Amino acid sequence: MSSDRPHPRSTLITNIGELTTIDPGSRVLRDAAVVVEHDRIAWIGPAADAPAADHRVDAGGRAMLPGWVDSHTHLVFAGDRSAEFEARMAGESYAAGGINVTTRATRAASDAELTGLVAGRVRDAVRGGTTYLETKTGYGLQVDEEARHARIAAEQVDTVTFLGAHLVPEGVDADAYVEQVRGPMLRGALPYVQWADVFCETGAFDADQSRAVLAACAEAGLGLRVHGNQLGHGPGVQVAVEMGAASVDHVNYLTDADVDLLAGTWSGWDRQAAAGTPGTVATCLPACDLSTRQPLAPGRRLLEAGVQIALASNCNPGTSYTTSMNVNVMIAVLQMHLTPAQALRAATMGGAIALGVQDQVGSIEVGKYADLHLLDAPAAIHLAYRPGMPLTHSVWRRGQQVWSAPH
Ligand code: NIG
Repeated sequence: MSSDRPHPRSTLITNIGELTTIDPGSRVLRDAAVVVEHDRIAWIGPAADAPAADHRVDAGGRAMLPGWVDSHTHLVFAGDRSAEFEARMAGESYAAGGINVTTRATRAASDAELTGLVAGRVRDAVRGGTTYLETKTGYGLQVDEEARHARIAAEQVDTVTFLGAHLVPEGVDADAYVEQVRGPMLRGALPYVQWADVFCETGAFDADQSRAVLAACAEAGLGLRVHGNQLGHGPGVQVAVEMGAASVDHVNYLTDADVDLLAGTWSGWDRQAAAGTPGTVATCLPACDLSTRQPLAPGRRLLEAGVQIALASNCNPGTSYTTSMNVNVMIAVLQMHLTPAQALRAATMGGAIALGVQDQVGSIEVGKYADLHLLDAPAAIHLAYRPGMPLTHSVWRRGQQVWSAPH
């Protein structure tokens, strides 16, 4: 996600009809303005009190939010699984084995092809208001391929997760594969990645295999995340908490004990100040839940128990072929029954906490990166009120306007 053009020294964005800050006070300002200096937010307040700046942008009474922080995607893939999706809509269930189909297509794609595919997906994400993006490997499942996918990802997104433990490839012994993942595959991907993830689920990796992979990755200095409790009750949450993972993602099937376990990890976090020691974020992936016809993740139940949640797109060809965070926020409000404020926070600050970058991005606060999303609407509630409409008007990343929709 590049922002390489020179910055004007300071920019005043004024006449903002509704400014949703996601700051610790959850402030929503009317008739507001923001001053950006270089790549940072320098001032926020009533438009009438705004200081002068070198450059002025009139927001036309529109609503502004922090840019989305998409903390869970799988953008490095080739091929198409629309037939699998169609079969699912006709009643088939989702099975993790579809990952093999994408793995074959992705291994066959050249560096140039894969780079172009990832670039197109990043471009679409930015045009939808995303300003901080995580992506994963996981369709290579061989030592050289996982390193290649990690390298291609690292050239284009903000942070990369090693997911060699996505599936045991066809014809390979599971225990031998786990050893390969935690040894040579991890070493090959390591120069390009900050995080490691494991698909801890029946049909993918069991609890002990997951622990073994995560322990080696932690030892190598990576932060941890877990795909867990997606297709049924399982040990994903337990493993994530035990290993100190920054997030457990999917969380569709949770027992009360799972929720309590997650809530317990947030005892060192001050919710009011949004500061302290973060626990394990529960990342909900609503577009994926609709596409796989799984029960929606219980976002409200988690929030009420004191768990920080994130919303993410999970863009991948099997279960969620979209980078649209606008759509995910819409589903979270309409179907998961989050309040708009809860959904907006989960898709910005929630993702930032899950990625450990909450001091830099995820809210509109003085000193943070000027990552801003202007809607073509007077209020953020329009994201749920007008499903599917092209509501992203303009996007700034690190102080530079990186997208403005043609009007
Ligand atoms: O997050 N759950 C595992 N991984 C992806 C799906 C991958 C695929 O089917 O290609 C997910 O849903």
